[in-house]
Parts: sequence; C-alpha cells; structure tokens
Amino acid sequence: MKITLIAGARPNFMKIAPIIKEILSTNTEHSSISYRLVHTGQHYDDKLSKVFFEELEIPEPDVNLGAGSGSQAEQTARIMVEFERDLIKNPTDLVVVVGDVNSTMACTIVAKKLNTKVAHVEGGIRSWDMTMPEEINRMATDALADYFFTTSRVANDNLKNTGVSEDRIFFVGNTMIDSLLTNLVKIKRPEVWEKQGLKNENYLVLTLHRPSNVDDLNKFENLVNAIDESAGMPVVFPVHPRTKKNYDQLSIKPRLVVPTDPLSYLEFIYLIKNAKGVITDSGGVQEETTVLGIPCLTLRNNTERPETVTIGTNEMIGEDIEVLKNSLSNLKAGKWKTGEIPELWDGRAAERIVSILKEMN
Ligand code: UD1
Repeated sequence: MKITLIAGARPNFMKIAPIIKEILSTNTEHSSISYRLVHTGQHYDDKLSKVFFEELEIPEPDVNLGAGSGSQAEQTARIMVEFERDLIKNPTDLVVVVGDVNSTMACTIVAKKLNTKVAHVEGGIRSWDMTMPEEINRMATDALADYFFTTSRVANDNLKNTGVSEDRIFFVGNTMIDSLLTNLVKIKRPEVWEKQGLKNENYLVLTLHRPSNVDDLNKFENLVNAIDESAGMPVVFPVHPRTKKNYDQLSIKPRLVVPTDPLSYLEFIYLIKNAKGVITDSGGVQEETTVLGIPCLTLRNNTERPETVTIGTNEMIGEDIEVLKNSLSNLKAGKWKTGEIPELWDGRAAERIVSILKEMN
C-alpha cells in the first residue's frame, strides 16, 4: 500500500513521527507500506519546523510545498494549488492527514477531489466554537474523510452523530502522546533554566497564540498583566511568532513573565514536566500536561479535548481575569485535582494505526 502523509505546522510533527517510525520498523517483505511525506511549508521557521524533524528523528520530507504564511484563505489556497500538482504527479492509495491546521483541511479537499481516499488522525474532536479556524478545519476535514483514527470515545460519538458509520472509525489513542512517552528519556534542560535559576515546581510555563487571546492588544496586555501580578513565581513564556509581533508592542514591563524564543520539543517537554503549572491556549499542551499530571489552566471558554478536564488535570479558565487570579492562588496553595490518564493514551496509538492500515491493504 502507498500512503501520502501530510504535515505542515508545529503540532503536526509530533503526530506523524511515531507513525513513520512504526511503518519503517514493521515493514516486511510480505506486508509493507510505502510512504511519501509532504511538508506543506505552513510553518517554515527552523524553530517551528526543522528542530522538530531533528529531535523527533523524522526523515526529510519528500517535498516541501513552501506554502508559507498569509490570511486563512491565502494560506489554504496556496497549499491546495501546490498539493494538487504534487498529488497528480505522485498518485497514492491513501492520504493521511493529522490534527486540525489549515494544511489538514486543504490537503483533504484536494485529495477527495482527485478521488483519493483520506484518513484523519485525531478525527472527530469538536470545540463547537465556530470562531476558531481549527474548528472549521476539523468539520470540513471530517465531512470528507473516509477513515478516522480517534483519540477518545467522545470523538467517536461526535462522528457517529454526523452519520459516520462505525466501520470507518478506529479508536486508537493519541499519537501526540506516543511522541511524549517515547521522548521523556531524552528531554533537555533549556538555557532559560540556568539563566533564571529555575528549580522543580518553582515556576510556571505560559503559551499563548490563539487569535482570540493575542490579536487584541488590550486583551493580551490585561492577560499578561494579571498573570504577572498573581503568579508569585517566574513565568517562562516561549513566544510563538504570531504572538511576538504583538508582545513587542505591549506597553507593560512584566516583572515575573520571562519571554523566550520558541523552544525545541525536548526543551519544552522538560520545562512543562518540572513546572508547578502551565497556563495555555494550546490544544496539544492540554493533552501533554494531563499525561504528565501537571496542573493546566486553559485560557479558553471551550475545549475539543474534554477528557483533559473530566479525567485529566486541565481546567477551563475562560476569559475572566478574576477567575484566572483565583485559579492561580489555588494552584499556589497546592489545591489542584490530580487527574488520571485517558483511555488508550498509552504510547501505542501509532502501532494500532499502522496495523489497521496494513489490514486495509
Ligand atoms: C497554526 C495553526 C494552529 C496551531 C499553531 C501551532 C491553523 C489555522 N492554525 O497557527 O492550529 O495551534 O499553528 O503553532 O492552521 N509565522 C512565522 N514563522 C513560521 C510560521 C508562522 O513567523 O514558521 C508567523 C506568520 O507570519 C503568521 C503567524 O506566525 O503571521 C501565524 O502563522 P500561521 O501558520 O498562520 O498560524 P499559527 O498561529 O502558527
């Protein structure tokens, strides 16, 4: 069987790495999958892309479509135009997309219009928040995909409720957690650790990049200010490029918030694993903190990963600054739930995916 794997943006890389590793280590003369890796070029900075390929030992992509940044429509359209050319030249049995970024949706539409089957890894999750570009990407991708590799029973139900038949849904677990568990032995102390004199559980980690939190300067400033005033310990803030443009324009001078360049995967996991808690608006970080048992304060009103709240260590803080301050004081006082690990988030999702793909052969 021939598959084409799509990756475009930072959170895609940890989802494809274990799938490629599993394919390469299980291929035999009698049962094999050949894969072509397409990097759409949605993320192109070394710190958002290259370092992830190196650390996660992902082989060089077969092609980089060089899509780059732009408005939602510009970026999606560029990926579609380039991927259509590539797929016509390199036909395949199945296109495998992961996650919810623009590359996921763009390549799904292209593949289906060329009558190529699509499998969606992390299919079925929903925030029901149509102001998020990712929710639109998830809905469009899932309306078209043929097969779904899911991370939770809630995702299975979401798909069934839209009419997807059970034989197209495979509950396999979470490939992002495969990467996390495999790489725990390799995590690296980042430079900021020595520079700031960090010690286990005496600091927080902050990540923010959603348009709803960082694009409005006033709102962004109020958030950073509230965190700075109530954290009571250093807050390491690896700043995403989208966020940096606005962070540099803020008029406040935080005392405890320490901005850094984006960290590598192994550095970031080191930092969250040893933190007192994490404040974030990312999807993947909610999952990683749940598995590591680290308190997570999510600055959003909803999550497409509800099991991180019902089972894990995550709490939805929403947009109310007072709720954020109260939650931070609970965290500092050691009053936080402990949480458990969601079903099948056991590091073996890629193994299940590849064995199902081989049966489809
Ligand atoms: C994208 C994904 C989001 C994911 C995030 C992780 C979509 C709709 N969003 O958001 O789901 O959580 O990646 O990082 O697909 N930029 C650079 N260098 C790069 C890439 C981007 O400087 O390598 C700048 C661009 O100029 C742009 C901004 O960052 O202004 C945003 O990039 P974009 O790819 O549009 O979306 P993200 O916010 O990264």
